[in-house]
Amino acid sequence: MSLMSEYINKVFPHEGVFEIILGTAGISENLAPIGLIRHGDDFFSKIFKNTLTYANLKVKKSCIVNISLDPKTFYILLFNSHVINKVEIVKREYDNIPYLENSLSILSECIEIENKDNFSIFKYNFIKLLNNGTDYRAFSRGDALLIDLLVHITRLDIFSEEELAKYSSIIEYEIKTIARLSPDKLDIVRDLIERINAKGLKISL
Ligand SMILES: Cc1cc2nc3c(=O)[nH]c(=O)nc-3n(C[C@H](O)[C@H](O)[C@H](O)COP(=O)(O)O)c2cc1C
Repeated sequence: MSLMSEYINKVFPHEGVFEIILGTAGISENLAPIGLIRHGDDFFSKIFKNTLTYANLKVKKSCIVNISLDPKTFYILLFNSHVINKVEIVKREYDNIPYLENSLSILSECIEIENKDNFSIFKYNFIKLLNNGTDYRAFSRGDALLIDLLVHITRLDIFSEEELAKYSSIIEYEIKTIARLSPDKLDIVRDLIERINAKGLKISL
């Protein structure tokens, strides 16, 4: 295994979906939150065609994958990108492509391999590490939801019937989403379904 793929395994440690900040250029430089899908040792993103990210990638196939665990960074880049450089989010550039100064940033090729009506699938070909950050592991929404689910399970015994009815749909959503985004946790999910259903709920995968 090359040093790069060993590194990539640490950043994206399981199958499923991670959330990253993708830097693109081409038409105009842009940083946007994007889901990155790991399937075996291959990495993809599904990019909607109504985004600047898509338009950029059609013109310039290089991109920069930025790793952050900070939800505020995701929020600012989604809705308030005009404040970049005025807050703790500082933008740098490599080959005209933007990346985040405090993030682990990986230069990559981003090749369109499937073209659908509303979106395309792009495949990553990681090239080199550009920048070291404080977070070296990508954000996994599935793993985060698993913690939330564990909290809900500890409360099953003290929920009123009304609360139980309300939370069972949340619990079911979390179970299904964890299974999809963090399939490496399926054994845990199955065990938790048994524990939840032993309390009288009827949750299935
Ligand atoms: C955590 C997160 C993950 C996202 N994943 C994707 C994705 O995988 N593909 C996509 O096209 N949009 C995704 N989005 C939505 C884009 O970030 C959003 O459409 C953004 O406005 C696109 O920006 P752009 O037009 O500047 O490229 C995601 C948003 C968030 C907050």
